[in-house]
Amino acid sequence: MQEAQWIWMNRELHKWNDAKIHVLTHALHYGTGIFEGIRCFRTEDGPAIFRLREHISRLFDSAKIYMMEIPFTFNELSDAVKQTVSVNNLQECYIRPIAYYSYGEMGVNPLPNKIDVAIAAWRWDTYLGKEAEEKGVRCQVSSWRRINPSILPPQAKATANYANGSLAKIEAIKAGYDEAIMLNMDNVVAEATGENIFRIKDGILSTPPASDGALRGITRDTVIQIAGDMGMLFRRNTISREELYTSDEVLLTGTAAGVTPVREVDGRSIGTGKWPFAQKIRQAYSDIIHGRNEKYGSWLDLVEPRRMEVRV
Ligand SMILES: Cc1ncc(COP(=O)(O)O)c(C=O)c1O
Repeated sequence: MQEAQWIWMNRELHKWNDAKIHVLTHALHYGTGIFEGIRCFRTEDGPAIFRLREHISRLFDSAKIYMMEIPFTFNELSDAVKQTVSVNNLQECYIRPIAYYSYGEMGVNPLPNKIDVAIAAWRWDTYLGKEAEEKGVRCQVSSWRRINPSILPPQAKATANYANGSLAKIEAIKAGYDEAIMLNMDNVVAEATGENIFRIKDGILSTPPASDGALRGITRDTVIQIAGDMGMLFRRNTISREELYTSDEVLLTGTAAGVTPVREVDGRSIGTGKWPFAQKIRQAYSDIIHGRNEKYGSWLDLVEPRRMEVRV
């Protein structure tokens, strides 16, 4: 990873290599952390964070599900995210705020432990590989099922969920694919391991509802709004495995991955290899995140340039 200089931890800035936690931190043992993945993009007016409010709001929702009292307000955390980008002098970056049950008491009960919060930001250009956006990715439908709300709440962006995603990702990578697509316990498509999924068939865009196990992704919401602007027909409906195979186009969307076309699922090529809708959506998404679409200007929070002194 491309290291930056500073990491924000509980209001203080620590040098990248000094941002450490105790090995008996509760979240490390029991998966009791929640986090966000946010991006900052270059715009004509300087670096700007995309849909910061929605990300911080989802962080607080995840915390609520895990009964975590985050010891910072909404505004304090929003400012801390901006400060982390600014102090590292980053123009474009990925931002990872995490809140977790910290060090104090071992045992499955997390509640006796205090909540710590950290925010890191670093340059992270491509999540699914350099050629993914142009050439599309190859996906495998995983033998691992997406967590079910009766087992772990999928709408909490919790570290524990990603043990499920990691198993699917390992399986896909070992089999020579780029990404895994996860079905839920009813055998219908939920999402990928770090992205939502869309299908286009006969000009209609669709994506699985949250009730099928999809995270309410912020990029997913952005793509739905873009499709509306483009006058595309859109449905939030259940997608079966075979409907994936017979799609004209399949897209993965996420903060890390952006808008990425899928070129193959389980050895079946998707569409003609041209993906005209994907290209249009990607272009519109790129315009929005780089501040070239006034309609969505309020989704961008400008980052103040770095103040020279850094207090640690
Ligand atoms: C499991 C999962 N699904 C979907 C997404 C996409 O969500 P977003 O667009 O908010 O990044 C992510 C990334 O946060 C994710 O981890």
